[in-house]
Amino acid sequence: MLKSNKVLKMPDGFLWGTATAAHQVEGNNINSDWWQWEQKNVGKILDVKEKKFRNKKFEPSGLACDHYSRFEEDFKLIEELGNNAHRLSIEWARIEAEEGKLNLAELEHYRQVLESLKNKKIKVMLTLNHFTLPSWLADKGGWTNFKSPFYFNRYATFVAKNLGHLVDFWITINEPEIYMDMSYMSGFWPPQKKDIKLAGWVYFNMARAHKKVYKNIHKILDKKGHKTQVGFSMNVMSFASYRKHNFWELFFVHAADRIVNHSFYDLTKKSHDFLGVNYYFRVRLKKNEGSLIPAVDEVHEDESELSDMGWVVYSHGIFDVLMDFKDFNLPIYITENGIATEDEDQRAKFISNHLAEIHHAIQAGVDVRGYFYWSLLDNFEWDKSFGPKFGLVAVDRKKKTRKPKESFYAYQKICQTNTVRPVA
Ligand code: BGC
Repeated sequence: MLKSNKVLKMPDGFLWGTATAAHQVEGNNINSDWWQWEQKNVGKILDVKEKKFRNKKFEPSGLACDHYSRFEEDFKLIEELGNNAHRLSIEWARIEAEEGKLNLAELEHYRQVLESLKNKKIKVMLTLNHFTLPSWLADKGGWTNFKSPFYFNRYATFVAKNLGHLVDFWITINEPEIYMDMSYMSGFWPPQKKDIKLAGWVYFNMARAHKKVYKNIHKILDKKGHKTQVGFSMNVMSFASYRKHNFWELFFVHAADRIVNHSFYDLTKKSHDFLGVNYYFRVRLKKNEGSLIPAVDEVHEDESELSDMGWVVYSHGIFDVLMDFKDFNLPIYITENGIATEDEDQRAKFISNHLAEIHHAIQAGVDVRGYFYWSLLDNFEWDKSFGPKFGLVAVDRKKKTRKPKESFYAYQKICQTNTVRPVA
């Protein structure tokens, strides 16, 4: 674990960015499964795991941050941050609002969005699927449908053929394991199923879809001397046993690491040009007396710092997971890392200390090439509505005006100088 507070220099050419997702920031994503689900839940009392946001009223995404019409203003903020890259998602429910039909007006919109980034010399990392689905596909069973990889590939083809020249990195699917869990196992997200068989189909079809689109994007966009970069983003957790030497807990840690952190890579072998790592927290696994299923989310006596989501803040975990992924011998991008907090010192410290651990991993030989803070703006946090504040920039809920927070300037200093100093 890092003790010194020396200034650490990141490698030349390191990518600095922030990450967003269409549905969380754009607003009016009316042809998506999430939009439909939200309308049924307006004003309901939130039944979420995270204590701080429980018992509040659910507010639907609505205009969200109105990024759809304010993207220029937001990209100016990115420039001001000194970023040279940005991760965003394109919305399937807009591009293909009607089954099989490419929506030309929406295509034109995204052309303008991506061109705006290109004109500012900001590299584009584009996610094709960040949790939401077009309603027509949700009605056909979404990712449980055996043909879903075919549908996904048809949409990806529209995007790659028309906008591919504006994209530097492709993320096919964001966090397949989180989607499978939240939508088909714990049942918090649409379609709110708790069905292990369906969950299995979802995961399997997402893996098929990733492989198909990986091949197809290469076929469409690779040119002599230029290989396009395609990967996916995984929510990678740092697992630890509650008790240091407890046999069962150590076994759970190993199994959880294989299933949660590695299984999607195993299912999609040879279909990644880089690894996209989303890291947020450490999970302690504790043996439950009389049960084979361990208790998760156990906060150890040693760890008192939590985010507003109740997640354990543990910067060294990012070093651990990066060291584990070293064996893949692929470039790694931290495609998300961030904290929900209203305490700006806590956010700035979180960023610096995670970056210092990333620096440490680079020193230890891991090929980390970029970092995208989650998120640029306070946004719509899925089933928790607008409660959690992950942004470097606050958004007025009514007027939609933007206000950079203190951590915006702390991150700006890091990006502009390509250096970071850990905070004790
Ligand atoms: C997701 C984001 C989400 C963030 C914070 C990530 O797992 O990709 O959409 O907002 O976590 O919960």
